[in-house]
Amino acid sequence: PKPNGDPSAMQMKSYACQRRTPLKHHNSFLTEALEILSQNAEYNDNEGRSVAFRRAASVLKALPHRVKTIEDLRCLPCLGDHSQRVIKEILEDGSSREVESTRQSEQFQTMKALTGIFGVGVRTADRWFREGLRSPDDLIRTGQQLNRAQQAGLQYYDDLQKPVTKAEADVISDIVEKAVHAVLPGAEIQLMGGFRRGKEVGHDVDFLITHPEEGKEEGLMPKITNWLEEQGLLLYQKTTRNSYLEKMDGPARPPNNMDRFERCFSIFKLQKSAVRCKSNSTASVEDVSRGGENERPSEHHSEESGWRAVRVDLVVSPYSQFAFATLGWTGSKLFERELRRWAGQEKHMSLSSHALYDSKQNLYLRAKTEEEIFAYLGLEFIPPSERNA
Ligand code: CTP
Ligand code: MN
Ligand code: MN
Ligand code: MN
Repeated sequence: PKPNGDPSAMQMKSYACQRRTPLKHHNSFLTEALEILSQNAEYNDNEGRSVAFRRAASVLKALPHRVKTIEDLRCLPCLGDHSQRVIKEILEDGSSREVESTRQSEQFQTMKALTGIFGVGVRTADRWFREGLRSPDDLIRTGQQLNRAQQAGLQYYDDLQKPVTKAEADVISDIVEKAVHAVLPGAEIQLMGGFRRGKEVGHDVDFLITHPEEGKEEGLMPKITNWLEEQGLLLYQKTTRNSYLEKMDGPARPPNNMDRFERCFSIFKLQKSAVRCKSNSTASVEDVSRGGENERPSEHHSEESGWRAVRVDLVVSPYSQFAFATLGWTGSKLFERELRRWAGQEKHMSLSSHALYDSKQNLYLRAKTEEEIFAYLGLEFIPPSERNA
């Protein structure tokens, strides 16, 4: 039964992977508020609550119009009492007291600042908060013990806070392509994450790398990072080996959304001149790769130098898993989460960035394209630009 018996009323599907969610939508004034509450729940280690607010926000992102009255929410899925209360208050008063007091709270602001440091997760940030630390400077001042990632995170804090532009991502793409082809001709490189979904800025740049001949991709990552390091293009890198085994990661294993590809979390040294060149014509990587002069080991201030630090994620996938890896690394995070939930709850299948397992038939379903995976899952294909759930 349609709302009000009106057959023209749009029916909002309840899983984000059943809906088209464009990047630009009509309800940011509501979704930003709900996402503050989601983030705050995450900071308080309440995952269920965090996902509930995020799902509510996501439904509003998929609406083809701006919400004007509470009646507009009738028949929408995923809006719990709490979310509805917050929305109602914003519609009536222009803002929600709970959201505003959360936003202003010392805990929220501290957690945001500390988890904003590369290498710092919620647990570490929470411990520091409870010890009285409030800012990145406090960590340096009090001489906190930091791992290598966190040291790099502090050293390049200012740069890594600045959004990465599409123009910068394109220059990084050229560099990564050059590096990969230098060490493995015939390899294929694909831009992933937010930029594949059409975002104009991101917090990092994500790449997926494969080779059409299965097996050629093995051990590729150290070769790529060595090449980049020799060119002086890497400020930081940590590579993790591929640990995927179908037998172990299959049905016997409890679901885990962390994938097991060979991957590298890195920080690139990007010459600003290369980005300027690129927007004129095409930059040669020679322009890009001269890094050179020794930097202070302390904090880097990019206004004073010709380069900036950029977070880059590299992932290597065997060709046979490439479609799954592509789907899994395009995001958004909520879209991915909803795809896995749909697969498990509605289809008795288990989806990861490596494979799709059908528990009823007891077999792995092979796929060469994202379209095939949506089809196996009984879902309409949603293009990357509409996965901004
Ligand atoms: N991802 C993952 N495992 C991780 C981190 C990320 O599988 N440990 C996947 C996410 O599910 C997402 C994609 O990689 O699909 C990109 O993640 P991320 O770079 O964090 O987010 P973006 O959507 O690219 O957003 P941003 O522009 O902020 O980078
Ligand atoms: Mn629209
Ligand atoms: Mn990203
Ligand atoms: Mn990433």
